[in-house]
Amino acid sequence: MEEILKVEGLKTSFMTSSGEVQAVRGVSFTVHKGEILGIVGESGSGKSVTSMTILRLLADTARIKEGSIQFEGKDLTKCNEKEMRAIRGQKIAMIFQDPMSSLNPLIPVGRQVEEMMKIHHPELKPEELKQRTLELFEQVRIPEPEKRLKSYPHEFSGGMRQRVMIAMALANHPDLLIADEPTTALDVTIQDQILKQLRTLQKQYDTSIIFITHDLGVVAELCDRVVVMYGGLVMEEAGIDEIFEHPLHPYTLGLLASIPGINKDKAERLQSIPGSPPDMTNPPKGCPFAPRCPYARNICAAECPPYVQAGGHRAMCWLLQPDAPAEGNPLYGKLAAAEKEAK
Ligand SMILES: Nc1ncnc2c1ncn2[C@@H]1O[C@H](COP(=O)(O)OP(=O)(O)OP(=O)(O)O)[C@@H](O)[C@H]1O
Ligand SMILES: [Mg+2]
Repeated sequence: MEEILKVEGLKTSFMTSSGEVQAVRGVSFTVHKGEILGIVGESGSGKSVTSMTILRLLADTARIKEGSIQFEGKDLTKCNEKEMRAIRGQKIAMIFQDPMSSLNPLIPVGRQVEEMMKIHHPELKPEELKQRTLELFEQVRIPEPEKRLKSYPHEFSGGMRQRVMIAMALANHPDLLIADEPTTALDVTIQDQILKQLRTLQKQYDTSIIFITHDLGVVAELCDRVVVMYGGLVMEEAGIDEIFEHPLHPYTLGLLASIPGINKDKAERLQSIPGSPPDMTNPPKGCPFAPRCPYARNICAAECPPYVQAGGHRAMCWLLQPDAPAEGNPLYGKLAAAEKEAK
């Protein structure tokens, strides 16, 4: 399959008064033509910083320290602002979690979509712009689209605003759409409708999508493949069936256990991984998940494990290294005692 985006060894930090925040510490993944790649992980794992690095929308305090982002023959880490402006909204579009922050409250939504098209297609006449916007509103199923073109963002519900954002993002038929938790703020039914719509539009335009979320349940519904991030690193990557059937990383197991399910009772539904994510100004030397991992051994805190890869499935965990020293494994002492007794 054709690769449209290739991120390799990406490291992005923020230089703050309290030190260097190492938000992304060596991330690699590929997006293929027409696929939906999920990026999943808890708050602070580096998902948004990764996507903001791709679009070069980072704060002034940010530095891309290492790595490359190949997109249509260009390394985006090396593009200047003018080159990035030609790519943003045109070739790569983004949908954010909070549409209010990306819509101008003072301009009717229809005009905002038209402006978006005009930047990249100055040749379009006003009637053409209006017609196209109308079609987009129909496609994302905004009721009474003709009337709604003239509405202001505050006159829309959260779900409808998110549809406007999707219309805007698709206005120029981008090759890649990055959706950063676009449904988190919405209730489940609306969330479901938006996800279905994204899927339909993705098929129609053969757009590739990076879908960022902390919910593996949403990933299961929408994505073809998933990258699991934690502590600024990729812990595991696999096809969607593979990650649910054969998860390899204890962090992925933790995320799987915290998927809300109708069959689980309330206490279970709220189950999340105990402990909290690492401080990225002083990230752990070894596996970032080691302090919270029920299977951690001494080596996990001391050193980062290499990736184990088989086909499209890879994970970084010392448990997958048969020769890794087992000292400190919570089961180690018990196993040794049981072995001794058996002899
Ligand atoms: N502008 C910034 N200045 C300093 N640190 C930042 C900045 N933006 C993000 N960070 C830090 O970078 C790390 C990764 O943040 P990021 O926003 O990518 O997390 P995330 O995975 O998107 O989380 P969430 O699910 O909450 O959106 C965090 O430790 C965060 O505090
Ligand atoms: Mg985020």
